[in-house]
Amino acid sequence: MSYDFNSKIGIVTGGGKGIGKGITSLLATLGAKVYVFGRSSLAEGTQFSDDEEINNRIIYINVDVSDFNEVQLAIDKIKSESGRIDFLVNNAGITKDNLLLRMSETDWDTVMNINLKGAFNTCKAASKVMMSQRSGRIINIGSIVGTTGNAGQSNYSASKAGMIGFTKSLAKELGSRNILVNLIAPGFIETDMTAKLSEEQLKSFVDNIPLKRSGLPVDIAKVVAFFISDDSNYVTGQVLHVDGGLAI
Ligand SMILES: NC(=O)c1ccc[n+]([C@@H]2O[C@H](COP(=O)([O-])OP(=O)(O)OC[C@H]3O[C@@H](n4cnc5c(N)ncnc54)[C@H](O)[C@@H]3O)[C@@H](O)[C@H]2O)c1
Repeated sequence: MSYDFNSKIGIVTGGGKGIGKGITSLLATLGAKVYVFGRSSLAEGTQFSDDEEINNRIIYINVDVSDFNEVQLAIDKIKSESGRIDFLVNNAGITKDNLLLRMSETDWDTVMNINLKGAFNTCKAASKVMMSQRSGRIINIGSIVGTTGNAGQSNYSASKAGMIGFTKSLAKELGSRNILVNLIAPGFIETDMTAKLSEEQLKSFVDNIPLKRSGLPVDIAKVVAFFISDDSNYVTGQVLHVDGGLAI
């Protein structure tokens, strides 16, 4: 990719592993300064790149996105340290799967608090900074199941469907301040989240993907880069499935 993000500063939540790590690595490689919001310190030995100059552009802040006060403190730190926020990627997310009758209230609430309220918290705090600078890009990471639904994932699917309505509403609210808000809906991407699946489940997933392969974090990261770049200057409020055709 040839985008030049040298002057850009932003946030990737849950950027320490999986899809978020792929996004963080690519954005820093393209020159951006990336603040990673994560719940626990990075796993020992986490390397974003072999190039130390690229690693030095990545700053980890311990933040639980479901806690508004923690998010606000982290945004204040970025504002005073770097002065601006050009992009926010809401990638942090969890699953607590079960059939409805076996799903605990706690598992419903935890998934909603991290996946959906977490995006509310970061958008509320970061959009204030973006509004004052009259520019910004917000990219929410949803899921195809936010559109299709999935048995055993009613909490997760509802949180991701909620993110679609949230994305479209913010696109309308913030458009006049030149803040663009879009959502990427990944399909089946190889990370710890999908490593929980059995061989059989994995095979049946891949059989149903028109491109006949699972995705990699970099497949999502490249689309995030597009939404941060000037190539998407006239695109807002959109849901883009990046899923090898799985949701067709
Ligand atoms: N892997 C897939 O196939 C797939 C498909 C569709 C959507 N997604 C979405 O993509 C995103 C990333 O998924 P992944 O597969 O990389 O998952 P992952 O489990 O590998 O990584 C999730 C990240 O979120 C962070 N996180 C969790 N709770 C947090 C909290 N309270 N505060 C801050 N950070 C927190 C974790 O520390 C981790 O870094 C999620 O939103 C997920 O729903 C993934």
